[in-house]
Amino acid sequence: NPHLLEVHSLIDSTNDHLMRLIPERMSQGRVCLAEYQSAGRGRRGRQWVSPFGSQIYLSMYWYLEQGLAGAMGLSLVTALAVSDAVKNYCDIQVELKWPNDIYLSGVKLAGILIDLEGQALEPSHSVIGIGLNVNMPEESAKSIDQQWTDLKSHTNITIDRDGLCAELISCLWERLLQHRESGLSGMLDEWHKYDIYLNKPVKLLTGERTTHGICRGINNQGALLLDVDGYVKAIYGGEVSLRGI
Ligand code: ATP
Ligand code: BTN
Repeated sequence: NPHLLEVHSLIDSTNDHLMRLIPERMSQGRVCLAEYQSAGRGRRGRQWVSPFGSQIYLSMYWYLEQGLAGAMGLSLVTALAVSDAVKNYCDIQVELKWPNDIYLSGVKLAGILIDLEGQALEPSHSVIGIGLNVNMPEESAKSIDQQWTDLKSHTNITIDRDGLCAELISCLWERLLQHRESGLSGMLDEWHKYDIYLNKPVKLLTGERTTHGICRGINNQGALLLDVDGYVKAIYGGEVSLRGI
């Protein structure tokens, strides 16, 4: 497939860059990579610590023919693509945390940020961003305010970031096509296999509210299934965070 790929040594945010290009004709699967981000973002305006030359910051443009409804589950599909790539390239199996985190040995290895533009029923645009820790410099680690890990701490082989990026792009492309053709239904079993909290007690933080329950995985729309006193509720994302207890 004819990817357009740009690699920057320095950028504010690979997601912001592709979002700014959207008024132009964008080609499906266009990728932006950077060695350094001066304003790497997580969800809700949080910072993504993005030191130079040792990590992966990747964004891909993805056109949604069906409008924003097609965006449901994009972060889950992307998480599976990261899982595929890390498995294929490093022989490491990651853990997935709904809706947008990738863990390894119980701490955060990578994060996913989806930016959207458009309307419910009209063709829309999405930018899918992946931040993957490959070799975190000690200095930068100090500014991360939660536990984290990187691939280097889990393997003896030297990771070639170019090769891993190529794998990541190809896995993401494959998963996005699978999602466009048949939705999430064919991916639920895989998700459940790697789900860090499946059948475990969790708390769900929604603004000021905390709901306790047992995680029962996801449904084919990408909603979290939370068992609260025997009644299973579907939680459709948004500004929510899941925590183990
Ligand atoms: P949740 O999605 O459950 O709220 P979260 O606390 O991980 O999860 P996110 O917005 O998804 O929040 O991610 C941003 C957070 O990730 C930052 O607030 C910071 O704690 C952490 N973080 C920032 N940079 C890195 C990095 N390079 N590696 C790992 N973690 C990081
Ligand atoms: C999160 O865990 O909240 C998501 C972190 C996403 C970070 C990536 S790095 C590439 C892309 N550009 C950004 O500014 N953010 C994403």
